[in-house]
Amino acid sequence: MAVTSKYLVIYFVLIIYFLGIIHSMSSRNISSSQFRHRRSYGERRKGKDGVSNIKGQLSGKPGVFVTENCTVVLAQIGGTATLPCVVRKFNSGVVSWIRKQDYHLLTVGLATYNTDDRFLVEHVRHLQNWGLLIKHVQLSDAGLYECQVSTHPPTNILVELKVTKAKAEIQGAPDLHIRSGSLLRLVCTLQYSTETPAYVFWYHEQRMINYDPGVSVIEGRSSSILHLKEADKSNNGNYTCSPSNAVPASINVHVLNATAEEKPAAMQHANSSSSTNSIAKCSLLIVTIILIPVLPNT
Ligand SMILES: *[C@@H]1O[C@H](CO)[C@@H](O)[C@H](O)[C@H]1NC(C)=O
Ligand SMILES: *[C@@H]1O[C@H](CO)[C@@H](O)[C@H](O)[C@H]1NC(C)=O
Ligand SMILES: *[C@@H]1O[C@H](CO)[C@@H](O)[C@H](O)[C@H]1NC(C)=O
Ligand SMILES: *[C@@H]1O[C@H](CO)[C@@H](O)[C@H](O)[C@H]1NC(C)=O
Repeated sequence: MAVTSKYLVIYFVLIIYFLGIIHSMSSRNISSSQFRHRRSYGERRKGKDGVSNIKGQLSGKPGVFVTENCTVVLAQIGGTATLPCVVRKFNSGVVSWIRKQDYHLLTVGLATYNTDDRFLVEHVRHLQNWGLLIKHVQLSDAGLYECQVSTHPPTNILVELKVTKAKAEIQGAPDLHIRSGSLLRLVCTLQYSTETPAYVFWYHEQRMINYDPGVSVIEGRSSSILHLKEADKSNNGNYTCSPSNAVPASINVHVLNATAEEKPAAMQHANSSSSTNSIAKCSLLIVTIILIPVLPNT
């Protein structure tokens, strides 16, 4: 009996342990799938591991900057980029932004020194932030920017701007086969996007169908889902997902005759299960495999 209860204890400890792993795996999966999470303040460190530098503790000695050196910022074409430069309190000195590629002085203090009025300083006094705001980001804006503080001697950090081209993607493209009378469900997701689009228009061939009867569109932060009730042959054709600020995507929908017993191998479902579920399944499999040698002894 004592042996049995010992094994039972081990059994439950293992179950709790693996449930913990499954939980951490699925929650990590969710956060990494949320692209917008990284938005424009996506801080990544080049070179040395920056674990101790995240809050600006530069290996013990307090630096002028709170913002990490070599911070990377992502912004999509046409969007707004915010390059951070948070400094510690200093008595004198001015913060300037310089574009590295041509050593162009962009801003000094709160003043913009550039004919290009897309560049602005976003100063938050009590936070000591001297972020550089770049509006209507262009591909040519990509590169290194220097935030310089005129201490003695002057000191600076670099911020890298990476410019992305946002594009739409429809799950199941290029072809989707559904049965006549069933729900047509199209999922459009945004790739390389840093900003939520103002709108997403859906087109059937050349016609916008967002407000058609039987159609509903569900907008997410980086996705748009089209539902069309009881599809029939007239719903055949090319569907386009066109976000306001991203390259559109298209899919060919084939509505199959409900009476015909045709079941093409290429039958696809737009709402197939997510990868999160498969990871959880994998972990459950590991639990059973490990527990099998324990059980026969009881
Ligand atoms: C940041 O990195 C650049 C290039 O590696 C270097 O020149 C600069 O001194 C660094 N700044 C600080 C505050 O460490
Ligand atoms: C579907 O329509 C879009 C927009 O009209 C077009 O760009 C695309 O080439 C079409 N695709 C096909 C396969 O016809
Ligand atoms: C679809 O079914 C209808 C009858 O329900 C039939 O008249 C038509 O020929 C069928 N079409 C195809 C392509 O099988
Ligand atoms: C979508 O998922 C639901 C249940 O999750 C299922 O009943 C339905 O058949 C699916 N539709 C398609 C087109 O895969």
